[in-house]
Amino acid sequence: VTGPATPIDRELNRWTIQSSFSVRYEVEETPDLLNPNNPKLRVPPLGDGTDSGTRLVVLDHSIDALYGPRIRRYFSMNGADVDYLALPCAEEFKSIDPVLKIVTRLNEIGTYRLSNPPIAIGGGVLTDVVGLATSLYRRGIPYVRVPTTLLSQIDVSVAAKTGINFGGYRNRIGTYSPAAKTLIDRSFLATLPDRHLRNGMGEVLKMALISSARLFDLLDEFGAELVESRFQAGETAAEVIALAVGGMAMELEPNLWEKDLCRAVDYGHSFSPLVEMRALPDLLHGEAVALDCVFSAILAARRRLIQESTLDRIVAVTRRLGLPVVHDLFLDTDLLAEALADCVRHRNGNQNLPLLTEIGRVRFVNDLTRNEIAAAVDVMKTYR
Ligand SMILES: NC(=O)c1ccc[n+]([C@@H]2O[C@H](COP(=O)([O-])OP(=O)(O)OC[C@H]3O[C@@H](n4cnc5c(N)ncnc54)[C@H](O)[C@@H]3O)[C@@H](O)[C@H]2O)c1
Ligand SMILES: [Zn+2]
Repeated sequence: VTGPATPIDRELNRWTIQSSFSVRYEVEETPDLLNPNNPKLRVPPLGDGTDSGTRLVVLDHSIDALYGPRIRRYFSMNGADVDYLALPCAEEFKSIDPVLKIVTRLNEIGTYRLSNPPIAIGGGVLTDVVGLATSLYRRGIPYVRVPTTLLSQIDVSVAAKTGINFGGYRNRIGTYSPAAKTLIDRSFLATLPDRHLRNGMGEVLKMALISSARLFDLLDEFGAELVESRFQAGETAAEVIALAVGGMAMELEPNLWEKDLCRAVDYGHSFSPLVEMRALPDLLHGEAVALDCVFSAILAARRRLIQESTLDRIVAVTRRLGLPVVHDLFLDTDLLAEALADCVRHRNGNQNLPLLTEIGRVRFVNDLTRNEIAAAVDVMKTYR
């Protein structure tokens, strides 16, 4: 044996294997994705380019109902050999069942290891489920994502995570497995139900609060208008998407595998995961995130990390986006304390609680007390 890459202790027969894993993946905005002349969805074979037969296209059932004929036309006009699987999508369906359905179908059509990556077209539930299925199939094959909700376009698109809910907890089972390619086409938002559009605004609000005063100003001034126009026109819509996706990419890239458990992007995601699961189906993810953003801003204001006027502005903008600023479960100190305890397990023993110090900046605290939670509940009550 010559030239071992890492030290080998021959006396003890002990080996240390060290390897690094670098990834590169693309997130791209592309208008008019379903136009048969737009080549973007004609994902070329990956790997050695072997012509590998059928490709699976997994569709969110709403996408199948609204865009099914156009999607089928796209692939047939491009001469692609594809098979379709449509799945019901909502948080309640984010379980192992659809994962196994996808794996079964991948087997049936004879999916190759690399060259015919499945394409997922739908909201965050669908893309998380397809991501998990493909990361498990043959221990991991590539996949392509087309997010079709505002939330998935600005949040899931950049992320490397997949997952399903389990045992009453959000995303308790999942993997780190970024899509080889993510294609964003805002025109899908034209058919998104109003409530889901606002839901996506919950994550845009979070990005503004942690990373961009400019984005927050845009939400303040044009937020309601953007919801109304469904992001279909104008410079502002493009800028808001660019700031949200770009901000997310900048936050995630240096810590993609979450080795550092102090994450600004966890803002709005400390108390909300448990509340959201307990409230199902009453609260959507972005609504729960918005509530957590407001609650955490109250905590920051009570610690004098931000001014009362900043808190008031955050509450006003959240309301204007049509997002909730108070909810019964966010008034339950016991539940919030339990949520924080689970969050501490998730952050491996630390609270690492992101709190705002100004709009666009956070600091992490590790000494939040139950009394502070109870006092913040009293403030949130007044928003009824
Ligand atoms: N992987 C990650 O890093 C990450 C990040 C954020 C959120 N998520 C996950 O995303 C999920 C939420 O995603 P979501 O908000 O997209 O919800 P969703 O996937 O449930 O979609 C919302 C609803 O909109 C429908 N729909 C989708 N696109 C449509 C369109 N263009 N027109 C009409 N209807 C459409 C869906 O069928 C569904 O009924 C959560 O499970 C969350 O955990 C994952
Ligand atoms: Zn989120």
